[in-house]
Amino acid sequence: MVKVIASVLNADFSKKKEWLPQLNESEIDGIQWDIMDNKYVPNTGIEKQLIGELRPQTKLFFESHLMVVDPENYLEEMAELGTQLLIFHIETTNNPKNIIKEINDFGMSAGIAINNKTPAEKIFPHLDKVDLSLVMSVEAGFGGQKFNPLALEKISLLRKKIDEEAIACEIEVDGGIKFETAKECVKAGADILVSGTGIFKHQKGIKEAIKEMKEL
Ligand code: DX5
Repeated sequence: MVKVIASVLNADFSKKKEWLPQLNESEIDGIQWDIMDNKYVPNTGIEKQLIGELRPQTKLFFESHLMVVDPENYLEEMAELGTQLLIFHIETTNNPKNIIKEINDFGMSAGIAINNKTPAEKIFPHLDKVDLSLVMSVEAGFGGQKFNPLALEKISLLRKKIDEEAIACEIEVDGGIKFETAKECVKAGADILVSGTGIFKHQKGIKEAIKEMKEL
């Protein structure tokens, strides 16, 4: 069964008393926190402190997605705030092996992400060292964008490589994931779907949105 992660970048935190219980009672597999520095991406993302604030209010899995020029400077704080899996972008470092090791040393699982224009092959050498590979299906930085079908070919290439070499690395896709695009991503070989507006702005509500995607 496909895993579904809720991206809270565009969630209204003044209404978290409404949506957090709905997430807790749903089949969601975790929450994704988008951390941005207004340098690697032209946006400031989520207030990091919100991770620590919500941590004691839910048992849900927390993954954080670093969209920053210097991911090595965020590792310890992300661990302290309660991140269980930390994703960094291959485009933001010349030393991915070091970052992966440091993420693990801080007690977190590691994920490696490729942005819209980065070929899947760029992360092939690291797949056997990370728990997750993240394919962005929009240009990183904002929620509510249109899905870029280029991601489907990248998912298929990663799926082929991971299956051929029996690598224990899940494939996650993030950006413009709604029911229709989710279906295509699962068909292409994605294990995990990250959705923001596809969940929080679904006309049938959060739980139904998640249920629909989980049944793919
Ligand atoms: C974009 C973020 C995504 C985004 C997803 O940089 O990493 O997680 O919030 O939002 P939707 O699902 O609305 O595209």
